[in-house]
Amino acid sequence: MTNEEIFDAAVKAAGNSYSKYSGFSVGAALLTSDGRLFTGCNIENASFSLTNCAERTAIFKAVSEGCREFDAIAVAGSMNNDFSKPCYPCGACLQVMSEFCGNNMRIILSDGEHRLSDFLPMRFNENSMK
Ligand code: THU
Repeated sequence: MTNEEIFDAAVKAAGNSYSKYSGFSVGAALLTSDGRLFTGCNIENASFSLTNCAERTAIFKAVSEGCREFDAIAVAGSMNNDFSKPCYPCGACLQVMSEFCGNNMRIILSDGEHRLSDFLPMRFNENSMK
């Protein structure tokens, strides 16, 4: 799949966003190494801190289905259906990407392709505890 196709899938997934408190719709599309696509949206809650971001929804869906190898994730967010401004992943989602997504994974945003090390050059991981 091209980056544009994966990004378009993220925009489509934002259509399912449950974001009645912030009004900010986010969608994510996660491409596995064997070519499957998992999508996710942000899911808010009246108890705000229970909100789950779109990226983590997609990653947890994939991992719970047995997929742990990923090539790319696209993220698209908007207040008003205009997805041209980049929606940079939050710190919690970056940490979850760090667990399951290697530094070769493409992070596709409206401003182009990035790598995890662009956002988290140093990070806590399993080696930090050795
Ligand atoms: N949000 C995401 O889904 N992903 C991010 O990386 C940043 C923020 C959601 C959470 C909340 O529902 C809304 O955007 C506003 O913070």
